[in-house]
Amino acid sequence: MSMHPDIEQVLFSEDEIAAIAKRMGAQITEDYRDKNPLIVATLRGAVVFFADLARAIECPLTMDFMRVYSYGAGTKSSGTVTIDTDLRTDIEGRHVIIVEDILDSGLTLSKLLDVLRERKPASLEIAAFLVKDIEGYEPPVHPRYVGGHIPDAFVVGYGLDYAERYRNLPYLGVLKPEVYS
Ligand code: IMP
Repeated sequence: MSMHPDIEQVLFSEDEIAAIAKRMGAQITEDYRDKNPLIVATLRGAVVFFADLARAIECPLTMDFMRVYSYGAGTKSSGTVTIDTDLRTDIEGRHVIIVEDILDSGLTLSKLLDVLRERKPASLEIAAFLVKDIEGYEPPVHPRYVGGHIPDAFVVGYGLDYAERYRNLPYLGVLKPEVYS
């Protein structure tokens, strides 16, 4: 597939992403074999990764979805999180894995975990496709499963958007700054 003209650089190709999902799926299979985990996709960014990760997990599981807001149309987290669509599953006593697209400030996830912990799951872990490494910044949450680390740049594709665009790119790339500045 040819590169989209708004993309400056590809950080993870389709093949690399497939290998990441396989590796993380194998780890989760190993850790949750008899636990019937509930895997939760945070809409909308994590959906593409969620679909690949779920198919790489080879033990029984159930799925649910949440939609939380933090960004609006810009490129920085607002720091407040609104739950727009909540789980349909009672998570008390369940082994829950939150599947995230990317951990940037981690504020969205940190707030979400606070809410979910009050519902008394048996365990609560994060599987993040990406962690953004920001110099001098220690994020408030630490995913148990991480696909890859990226530098502090705004990335799109493989579920991630800028103003709702580019989610369908099959690779992960850095957006040209002139597109959003
Ligand atoms: P945080 O609260 O700063 O960790 O932001 C979390 C959410 O912001 C992620 O789940 C993404 O949906 C979005 N986000 C953060 N960084 C990027 C990026 O580089 N590109 C696209 N979306 C991003």
